[in-house]
Amino acid sequence: MSIKNILLGTSTAIVLFGCAGGDNPGLEYAPNMYHSVAYEPLSQITDESAGRWVNSLDNGAERGEYFNSNKYNPYRMNMREPAPNTVSRNKYGWLPYRNVHVSKDSVPIVTAGMRNPLDSTVAVLADGKVLYETYCKHCHGVKGEADGKVSDKYPGVANLKGDAYVNITEGHIFQVITHGAGLMGSHGSQVSPEDRWKIAKYVKALQKQK
Ligand code: HEC
Repeated sequence: MSIKNILLGTSTAIVLFGCAGGDNPGLEYAPNMYHSVAYEPLSQITDESAGRWVNSLDNGAERGEYFNSNKYNPYRMNMREPAPNTVSRNKYGWLPYRNVHVSKDSVPIVTAGMRNPLDSTVAVLADGKVLYETYCKHCHGVKGEADGKVSDKYPGVANLKGDAYVNITEGHIFQVITHGAGLMGSHGSQVSPEDRWKIAKYVKALQKQK
């Protein structure tokens, strides 16, 4: 048997031995690449001796470097679970948007009690302009006068400076973006509630421009 065959056989054996099924990760080459020394929120290595052989922790080697689970938390994860019935809020403290669904056809657009939670700051209006020009301009146009590329080809796009729309509220604009209105489809899945309010602010400012 040549030395080449022996080498080939040994390396194949090591590679095969390294593979393992199920939850067993098998042999890890350069294990420090896989295991974070910092605690991770979800990963749970429950074996206290895991990684003892590479221990660089200053803990007198009571436990291995890879042990990272917390026996007091559910599933032994490091993260605490939120209290039951917790509902996430965004950075403004808003709850997830749940307003009555407005049917596109006959039911009038409901805006009762809807107030824009954002102030008309320069930053909000600047964001609103970028968002309007991303999501609305191709139909409603830069000026909001149905001067977009789409309205060149398809009639029926609302002129937002027209008499019918100059006095609409920001809540109304929010609802139209969310659910659509008549020929206009809903943009609720593309534009977040925060961004809808920014667009509403910008549309009101745009309507005042000559
Ligand atoms: C694909 C083209 C299209 C896009 C994109 C579009 N709209 Fe419209 N929009 C329309 C059309 C068409 C109408 C007229 C609907 C009707 O009266 O049947 C309309 C109507 C409106 C109205 C008046 C609705 C009413 O009845 O009160 C508002 C307000 C409005 N759009 C705002 C927006 C805003 C804000 C955006 C961007 C988020 C936007 N639209 C994106 C085509 C579009």
